[in-house]
Amino acid sequence: MHDKILILDFGSQVTQLIARRVREAHVYCEIHPNDVSDDFIRSFAPKGIILSGSHASTYEDHQLRAPQAVWDLGVPVLGICYGMQTMAVQLGGEVSWSDTREFGYAEVRAHGHTRLLEGVQDFATAEGHGMLKVWMSHGDKVTTLPQGFKLMASTPSCPIAGMANEDKGYYAVQFHPEVTHTVQGAAMLTRFVRDIAGCAGDWIMGNYIEEAIAKIREQVGDEEVILGLSGGVDSSVAAALIHRAIGDQLTCVFVDHGLLRLNEGDMVMDMFAGKLHAKVIRVDASELFLGQLAGVTDPEKKRKIIGGLFVDVFKAEAGKLKAAGNGVKGATFLAQGTIYPDVVESGGTKTKKATTIKSHHNVGGLPEQLGLKLLEPLRELFKDEVRELGVALGLPPEMVYRHPFPGPGLGVRILGEVKKDYADLLRRADAIFIDELRSTIEPNSGKSWYDLTSQAFTVFLPVKSVGVMGDGRTYDYVVALRAVQTSDFMTADWAELPYSLLKKVSSRIINEVRGINRVTYDVSSKPPATIEWE
Ligand code: XMP
Repeated sequence: MHDKILILDFGSQVTQLIARRVREAHVYCEIHPNDVSDDFIRSFAPKGIILSGSHASTYEDHQLRAPQAVWDLGVPVLGICYGMQTMAVQLGGEVSWSDTREFGYAEVRAHGHTRLLEGVQDFATAEGHGMLKVWMSHGDKVTTLPQGFKLMASTPSCPIAGMANEDKGYYAVQFHPEVTHTVQGAAMLTRFVRDIAGCAGDWIMGNYIEEAIAKIREQVGDEEVILGLSGGVDSSVAAALIHRAIGDQLTCVFVDHGLLRLNEGDMVMDMFAGKLHAKVIRVDASELFLGQLAGVTDPEKKRKIIGGLFVDVFKAEAGKLKAAGNGVKGATFLAQGTIYPDVVESGGTKTKKATTIKSHHNVGGLPEQLGLKLLEPLRELFKDEVRELGVALGLPPEMVYRHPFPGPGLGVRILGEVKKDYADLLRRADAIFIDELRSTIEPNSGKSWYDLTSQAFTVFLPVKSVGVMGDGRTYDYVVALRAVQTSDFMTADWAELPYSLLKKVSSRIINEVRGINRVTYDVSSKPPATIEWE
């Protein structure tokens, strides 16, 4: 059993970052809505509690408070931004409303030699005051300290930017330690969870494998599991973990819809069937998919067809497995690579916003339709933890650190109607682009351009343009290269790839892929463009 931190979410956009920083300090934590019951908090038994920020004001919403159990439990509490304000209001201090917001970089002076900030500073002033470079985002501020609290931090415009009641282990900051702009933010959160709350730093993916295996074995017993392998990171790590736990009780179904990248199907088979000796059934459904997509040009229709067929094929395979015996008595579990950000509801209280699970992760309601129980062994993990786990399980880093690839695959990277010829040309062009990104190192960082971009791919444009090659005229297709940098995929900047790299990719594609005679680079950011072209 790990020591746990409870994060109560008051609706801040960045609550998940608090959890990520805590996990990076090797402490297990969970995010729950701020209005969970007192009983829930007691049974969760946290060693410390963190109150998140919020878009709200303590004036606007008198319901948005920490449950009484937070104060009754006798464990350390850290309030962040709104969390500080509600702590102040609930413990007898005062918050004053302001219609001007303070937003962005600030320098905060530390006061009072608190445990939270002891030895944590960015620089010292000439007078010897410890200073912190932080990120602020707030309107209201605490104007009167609650009884028993002392000043912990200040700025000229926010005289109470931090407060502490060290006897109780209560600390609060007006700025955001969870964002990377707050230089010592991770150090402060680590100090709180490890030293003040006293959590052991035992949340380590290499060690977690044994625990996860034991959980899977206990949940599954001697029953059987099927899993839809896509080649993506989440389903691959889930498959490797479950296979490690229950071996041949797991059957993976890998649906090849004909819209995968070059050699991707073979690589997936080689890894799972070849190296891991897992039971994998490869279903070549490319004709079915391409047949149904013939003549369809509308992007949303294409997505629906691909998603719907995927469910049909998977269901049919699950049925066949059962009928044929095939060593499978009949699966009772469907495994999915759902990860924590898909599960956790960010930005709301239980009463105001229901938990939403991204629809593509619960593919077409498959578990209900198949009458199967769900097995989701990655449900507690963030993406970076899933990757660490994948490497610890022996999956190759190139697979685990791959850029995301959309479920509909090349179907949304071939504009308009999808045809096999187009997919074949696109696969070859894309492989060249990725190959060059991987092999070109940016000298300052020493990293490859593949690692410096969040997602990069090639898009097929079904238009022809004129070119000249040797003595002859060509009339061939056009591709666009797309490479973006983003931290959350909600917004993204096009990557400033070096011209020399673009030049090499263009020349290789035009020389090596007959049928393409023009290469363009997409210089649109998101918004207003999206990352994919469809
Ligand atoms: P957009 O194009 O919306 O993409 O800026 C944001 C991220 O989502 C991925 N994406 C998808 N993933 N099914 C998926 O599984 C889809 O239909 C889909 N559409 C976009 C996209 O690759 C990018 O990472």
